Amino acid sequence: MSEARRVPIEPQRVDAPLTRSAVFLVLTVEDTQEAVATVRSVLGALADVTKNVAFRDLAASLSCTVGVGAALWPKVFGTDLPRELHEFTPIRGAVHTAVSTPGDLLFHIRADRRDLCFELERQLVDLLGDAVAVADETEGFRYFDARDLLGFVDGTANPVGAALPEATLVGHEDPAFAGGSYVVVQKYVHPLDAWRSLTTEQQEAVMGRTKPDSIELDDAAPEAQKSHKTLATIVDESGDEHDILRDNMPFGAPAQGEFGTYFIGYARRLWVIERMLERMFIGDPPGLHDRLLDFSTPLTGSAFFAPSATLLESLAD
Ligand code: HEM
Repeated sequence: MSEARRVPIEPQRVDAPLTRSAVFLVLTVEDTQEAVATVRSVLGALADVTKNVAFRDLAASLSCTVGVGAALWPKVFGTDLPRELHEFTPIRGAVHTAVSTPGDLLFHIRADRRDLCFELERQLVDLLGDAVAVADETEGFRYFDARDLLGFVDGTANPVGAALPEATLVGHEDPAFAGGSYVVVQKYVHPLDAWRSLTTEQQEAVMGRTKPDSIELDDAAPEAQKSHKTLATIVDESGDEHDILRDNMPFGAPAQGEFGTYFIGYARRLWVIERMLERMFIGDPPGLHDRLLDFSTPLTGSAFFAPSATLLESLAD
């Protein structure tokens, strides 16, 4: 019998399509029993609340994924933590640091219409009331053909088809949490003038792909400066490559000089994202960090677990 039939669980819409608009809402939860009870009831009702808004334009593909941080997990679920879940550990390279910032809940709202994202966020914030405080609220948008504000197509190497659940959903290795997914978010800002002072060829060498058509460039020699693409490729001791799903979105306010990329990665194994970050911030070999970081500064960094929809709905009981 296949694993999917043995474990009748339904994941959240981790695999929702890349949309035109997204909201990334990171919240902290007040440390009171009432606040935790409110959160529990909102999470238990999340699928229904989302369905109510989504139904107003089914073609707009509204979805909402919620992630829960390590400190909040036992209070809400009353169980042990998913095996790898812990707070985001800062990663200090010689030049750049991946900071760790507070976050108990992450709502990742996606739709092809900005107003649907807005409406769902409004209803959730209303329901949560003073049980929560906002750590960060970022509104992302699709920029041309899924480009980041550095001008590159972002998301090309994402897994598709059968490789997608394989890369993103916990399976038999942690049965109580099967169908869930680890999620890491980081909000990056870019000094665009400095980036623009590079030639297109220099920018392509940083990324490891061509700019107009996103074609992969060859990897550098083992001891040489590696591109972002190569540093973010994780191969284990057995030679198996481990993918993650990214749904990065540009955000910004040109008149304020704010130009950013909101990074979000979903993974079956948290260590895969952590290893990517180590290779980017510390470098491989150490000292040769990802040159993308010379043009991208993380302002936030938090880790969560997005439980299966089945586990979420059990909170309503
Ligand atoms: C690839 C942009 C941060 C993981 C790429 C590509 C671009 C890009 C343009 C090549 C096209 C593609 O395959 O999507 C950015 C920007 C970032 C950022 C602008 C932030 C400022 C990160 C972080 C991680 C990451 C923090 C992981 C922790 C990956 C992976 C790939 C990738 C796994 C695919 C590598 C492969 O070819 O297999 N990124 N990225 N990225 N990035 Fe990033």
